[in-house]
Amino acid sequence: MLIDDYNRMKSIVVQGEVALNQATLHQLKVFEAVARHNSFTRAAEELFLTQPTVSMQVKQLTKAVGMPLFDQVGKRLYLTQAGEELVKTCREVFERLDQFEMAVADLKGLKQGRLRVAVITTAKYFIPRLLGPFCQRYPGIDISLQVTNHEHIINRLSENLDDLYVMSQLPEHIEITCQPILENPLVVVAPADHPLAKEKNISLERLAAEPFIMREPGSGTRKSVQSLFDEQKILLKVRLDLGSNEAIKQAIAGGLGISVLSAHTLALEDPSSHLTVLDVEKFPIERHWYAVYPSGKQLSIVARAFLEYLLTEGKQVTEQTAAKKISDLVHFGSSTNT
Ligand code: PGA
Repeated sequence: MLIDDYNRMKSIVVQGEVALNQATLHQLKVFEAVARHNSFTRAAEELFLTQPTVSMQVKQLTKAVGMPLFDQVGKRLYLTQAGEELVKTCREVFERLDQFEMAVADLKGLKQGRLRVAVITTAKYFIPRLLGPFCQRYPGIDISLQVTNHEHIINRLSENLDDLYVMSQLPEHIEITCQPILENPLVVVAPADHPLAKEKNISLERLAAEPFIMREPGSGTRKSVQSLFDEQKILLKVRLDLGSNEAIKQAIAGGLGISVLSAHTLALEDPSSHLTVLDVEKFPIERHWYAVYPSGKQLSIVARAFLEYLLTEGKQVTEQTAAKKISDLVHFGSSTNT
């Protein structure tokens, strides 16, 4: 397979000689990092190299390919078509090499290698807790965990940057394999002393009269809330956009407005935080977290071990710890300060 990838690299340039046999794996790694960060400086930081070294490596690789790999417009870098092809190929080659290393380690009876997981912001309330016991069981596995919003996860998925993804809203335009992990309901959160806190079955119209705090554009939480209100043709008064669930909780406690958050963001809430869940029609918005990867992707040994762990023991642990609290929260009347 590596031979196929290599041949594909060689055929990037139709005219002229591509002397990729002169390119080193190191140059390909440097190039991939520059392409991923869109920056020589950040690639140099990541790889603990100086910027001139990075530039030199990319220059030599460009010479070997025989075509420019980047265009620079002002201060911005853009991959050329050859660059795009090469970055795809690099990732495939690195993935295969990682898999090969893992397979050899597996033959030696070890689970070893790097696991790259990217999760949406709400999954940070359970995934890091599961990683502890997983790492203890497999000390040879290094983990890279990215926590980011829905839009960034979709971008990472389409670029095949990670082994596994945990998300709630599944992409429509990317073919994926997915398995449900846990419920991830969205609830309306307000200060515990809010006038609506004691009301039952509050209408969406009434809710829309309140100042709203929303997650940033690109957030899956925001998308779900917006679709519910759009379906009902009700306009929300958004007073504030905030890019973090924790910051939103602070803003609610500070009396800036109400918001919609995953119930899991409240599960570990400090009892003195004085937040409550409102009983609103059409809430909770029922959703799940899913473990996702692109269809056709051959999961590495390490990624398969983690997926299996996530869907069995990990799921059980999370259900035992969070599910009761979540079920109390979505059945209302429970403020986090009781
Ligand atoms: P978000 O996703 O961080 O993009 O809002 C969270 C979720 O969908 O639970």
